[in-house]
Amino acid sequence: MTTETVRAEPAAVAPAEPRVVVVTGGSRGLGAGIVESYLASGDRVAGCARSSTTEVEGWLASHPDHFLFVPADLSRSDDAKTFVDAVIERWDHVDVLINNAGVARDGILAMASDDDIDVVVDLNIKGTLYVSRLVSRRMLARRSGSIVNISSIVGRSGYRGLGVYSATKAALDGLTRSMARELGSRGITVNGIAPGYLRTEMSHGLDEGQMDQIVRRTPAGRLGDPGDIARVCQFLTDPRNDYLTGQVIVVDGGLTS
Ligand SMILES: NC(=O)c1ccc[n+]([C@@H]2O[C@H](COP(=O)([O-])OP(=O)(O)OC[C@H]3O[C@@H](n4cnc5c(N)ncnc54)[C@H](OP(=O)(O)O)[C@@H]3O)[C@@H](O)[C@H]2O)c1
Repeated sequence: MTTETVRAEPAAVAPAEPRVVVVTGGSRGLGAGIVESYLASGDRVAGCARSSTTEVEGWLASHPDHFLFVPADLSRSDDAKTFVDAVIERWDHVDVLINNAGVARDGILAMASDDDIDVVVDLNIKGTLYVSRLVSRRMLARRSGSIVNISSIVGRSGYRGLGVYSATKAALDGLTRSMARELGSRGITVNGIAPGYLRTEMSHGLDEGQMDQIVRRTPAGRLGDPGDIARVCQFLTDPRNDYLTGQVIVVDGGLTS
C-alpha cells in the first residue's frame, strides 16, 4: 500500500478568471490563430507586430475590452519594453506568454549576407530573450505563469537553405529547458512547440514541389494549420498542467516520427 497522497480532480472546474495572454507576432499566420484561440476561451490577449493587419483591426472592434495591440519591432530591446509596459499598464500582470514572432530567410549559409543573419538572429533569439526577460520578472513576482516558445522541427532535423533559422530554433529549445529549470520552483512552466510545416506566409518560400513532397511524407496527409498549434498552446498553458515543463512538443502530423 502506497503512502503517496493522491490528488483527486475536482468534480467540476470552477470558471477561471480571464488570463492575461501575451502573443508576440500576433497579427497574422500562426500568431493570429493563437490570438483567436485565447479570445475564444475568454482570455485577455495582447499582441504585437511591426504593423497592424485586418485581423488585428477586427479583434480591436469585436473584443475592445479583451484585445490590445502594440506596434513593436521585437528585435529592438526598447520596443520589447514598450510592448510589455503597455500590457502591464492595461492589465497589471501576465499569466501566459507565447513567444511566436519569428522570421526566416531562405538560402544556403555560404551565400548569406550579414543582414540575412542579423534579421533572423535579432528577432528569433534576441527578441525572444528580451520579451522573456521582462515577462518572467513579472511572473516571478507573482510566483505563477506559463511560457511557450514556438520552435520548429528544423531546429532538430535541419533543412537545406534554412541554416540560420534552424540554428535560432535549436537555440530556443535550449532556452526552453534552461528557463524551465530557473523558474520551475516558482510555479512557472516553460515549454516549447516544434511545428512541422504550416500553411502561412512564412511557408510561401517553399515551392509547390517541396510542399507536395512534405505532404506525401506526412502520416497525417496534410500541412498543419494554426489551430493545430493553438490547441497545444492551450494545453501547455492550462494551469492544471503544472507538472509539464521543460519539454518541446513536436506537432508535425508525424512527419519526423
Ligand atoms: N509557417 C511554418 O511552416 C512554421 C513552421 C514551424 C515554425 N514556425 C514558427 O511559427 C512562428 C510564426 O510563424 P508564421 O508562419 O505565422 O509566420 P508569419 O506568417 O510570417 O508571421 C510572423 C509574425 O511575426 C511578426 N513579426 C515579424 N517580424 C517581427 C519583428 N521584428 N517584431 C515583431 N513582430 C514581428 C509578423 O508581423 P510583422 O511582419 O508586421 O512584424 C507576424 O505577426 C514563427 O516563430 C515561426 O518560426 C512556422
